[in-house]
Order: sequence, then C-alpha cells, then structure tokens
Amino acid sequence: MASSGIIVFIFPVLCICAVKSGFVKVECKAENVGHYGQQSLLECVVKTSSDVNDPNIRMVAWKKLTSPEDEGDLVLGFKRGKLDEPKRGYRFAEPSWNGKNMNVSLLITNTAVADEGDYKCIVITDSGDDNMVTTLKVQAKYSVPTVYSIPEKIVPNTDSTLVCESHGGYPQGTIRWFDEEKHEWTASSKMEAKQSDDGLFQLTSRLSLLGGSTFSKYTCAVFNASGGKEDEKTFEMPPPPPSSLGGIVYDTPHMIVVMPAGTILLLTILFSNFSQSGIRENLNLNQPDPSPPPLHPQKCICNLCNH
Ligand SMILES: *[C@@H]1O[C@H](CO)[C@@H](O)[C@H](O)[C@H]1NC(C)=O
Ligand SMILES: *[C@@H]1O[C@H](CO)[C@@H](O)[C@H](O)[C@H]1NC(C)=O
Ligand SMILES: *[C@@H]1O[C@H](CO)[C@@H](O)[C@H](O)[C@H]1NC(C)=O
Repeated sequence: MASSGIIVFIFPVLCICAVKSGFVKVECKAENVGHYGQQSLLECVVKTSSDVNDPNIRMVAWKKLTSPEDEGDLVLGFKRGKLDEPKRGYRFAEPSWNGKNMNVSLLITNTAVADEGDYKCIVITDSGDDNMVTTLKVQAKYSVPTVYSIPEKIVPNTDSTLVCESHGGYPQGTIRWFDEEKHEWTASSKMEAKQSDDGLFQLTSRLSLLGGSTFSKYTCAVFNASGGKEDEKTFEMPPPPPSSLGGIVYDTPHMIVVMPAGTILLLTILFSNFSQSGIRENLNLNQPDPSPPPLHPQKCICNLCNH
C-alpha cells in the first residue's frame, strides 16, 4: 500500500497550499427512517471540491456496525470496477450505479427490524477518501387493536376484565384506555409487551373493571414509541338490566330493585327448606350437636373406624 502512504503524506501539504487541492467528503443524512417490509434509503453523496474535475470512485464499502468501534459487516462493496460480494437485499439506490455517480446511497430492499442500527459508508476516489456513519431507524405500524372481555358475557355488578391486543409494531408502543367521556383509565390496567422472532412487538393490556361501576364504553388506543396515536377500538359494555334508571348503575338500590325478579322464588324455597330442617332439628330432642352439617362426614369416618 505504498500509494495510500503517499496520498496520506501529500494530502495535508496540498490542503495547506490550497492550490489545485482536491478534497473529498462523504455527506450522509444523519438519520434515516425505514418502514418494516418496505425499501429503506440510507442517503449519502460524495462531495468534491470544485477544482476536482471528473472525479472517479474507486472503492465503496457499506458496512453495518454492531458497535461504534467495530469493523462492521460488509453489506455492499464496490472495487476494481465491479460489485464486491453484495449481501442479498442490499444495493446502490441509484439504478445502474457506477464509479462516476457520486450518489452512493444504500437501498435496503425489504427492511427488517434487524436492519436498524449504524452503517458506515467508506469511499475512496482518485482524489482522496472519506467515510461517514449514518443511522437507520426502523418503524412498523401497530395493527388495529382488538378488545374482548373476560368473562365473555359480562354479568352486571360483577368484576370483569377488558383485554386489548395489538401486534406487528416497532419500536415498543403503549396501550391506553379511555371511557366515553375521554377520561383516562390506563392506571387501572396492566400492559405486557412481547417481542417475536422478527423483532415486532405484541402489546396486551388488561383493564380491570369493578362490578357496578362501569361506563357504557371503553376505548383502547395504541400509541407508537414517539407518542403518536396509531389506532383505537371501542368496546361497548352490555346494556344494564332494564329495571335500572338512566344507565348509570350503582350499588344497593339497584340490586334491591333487581333481586325480586329472579331471586325471591329461590330464596323462598331455600328459606322454607331451612325453616323446615330447623323445625325438624328442634323436634329432634336427641340431637345434642348445634352444628350438624360439618360434623356429618367425621361421624361417618368414626363409624367406619369403630367397625
Ligand atoms: C440519491 O439517489 C436516490 C435514489 O435514486 C435518490 O432518492 C436520492 O434523492 C439521491 N440523493 C441525492 C442527494 O441526489
Ligand atoms: C408515530 O406516529 C406519528 C403520527 O402518526 C408519526 O408521525 C411518527 O412517525 C410515528 N413514530 C413512530 C416511531 O412510529
Ligand atoms: C331442601 O333440603 C333437602 C334435604 O334437607 C335437600 O335434599 C334439597 O335439595 C333442598 N332443596 C333446596 C331447594 O335447597
């Protein structure tokens, strides 16, 4: 590499003289955003000083860095007039790029979460060389959320849970809950984020509802990592029992109204059964034990032991 040694030696000298000096600069967009499953462009161009005419690119190396200091993996290379073992899915953004084209932008054809990170673009021209690091951020949009309840059929005045799910997003987002008056209920919920093999996130949030104090609608909204709302889904609670007034149902007065409907008959039967057995017990004067039901099984076992 004698020639590169000479370049390193004479380059500063030429710069100081500023006469007929050529300088080469790789200029990149500092941050590029790519979308999952689509093409991503990492934009870099080679700039030369005005006195360099007809610059020629001899070598380009696009490397994916795993840490700021490392050598990186070559994803696209060009040297001696031809492409150098390009990795599948990486190419020059300019169609039919050649060494005369100063736009050395990299195109990733089918962006994956794993493509996110820092890339180094190294360029050697016949008038000097330079390199630059640029970053790719990957984004994927979350699916429209789905909401279901546990239990599936909500029983009025009993506790229940609403479950909201959204998947296929990146980076990690959040799920928030609102009632129909836009008050936020996220504090009563718990969210879980799972990352699948392709790097995308599945978000699951569970909102606990106390029986007897629910709103008629709940909205689950998915927000992306930068806080933008991506989508939402509204869950309608089952209508309150017909006997309640005005749709807002609270505690005991409501229960008293509802209970007679189905429960009185059952209570009457149970109660009559109770008083009957009570009467039977009272009549049975030989029965000394005041609480017969729990003792019955033990008595049976003792009888077995005695035999
Ligand atoms: C470089 O080429 C790509 C693909 O043709 C294009 O989208 C981009 O705008 C170009 N950049 C510059 C600075 O010319
Ligand atoms: C979040 O959503 C907003 C608005 O839709 C969008 O502009 C932004 O790029 C998104 N950010 C991420 C990280 O997805
Ligand atoms: C009433 O009591 C008897 C025995 O004490 C029981 O077999 C029956 O199931 C009870 N009926 C109801 C409605 O609880």
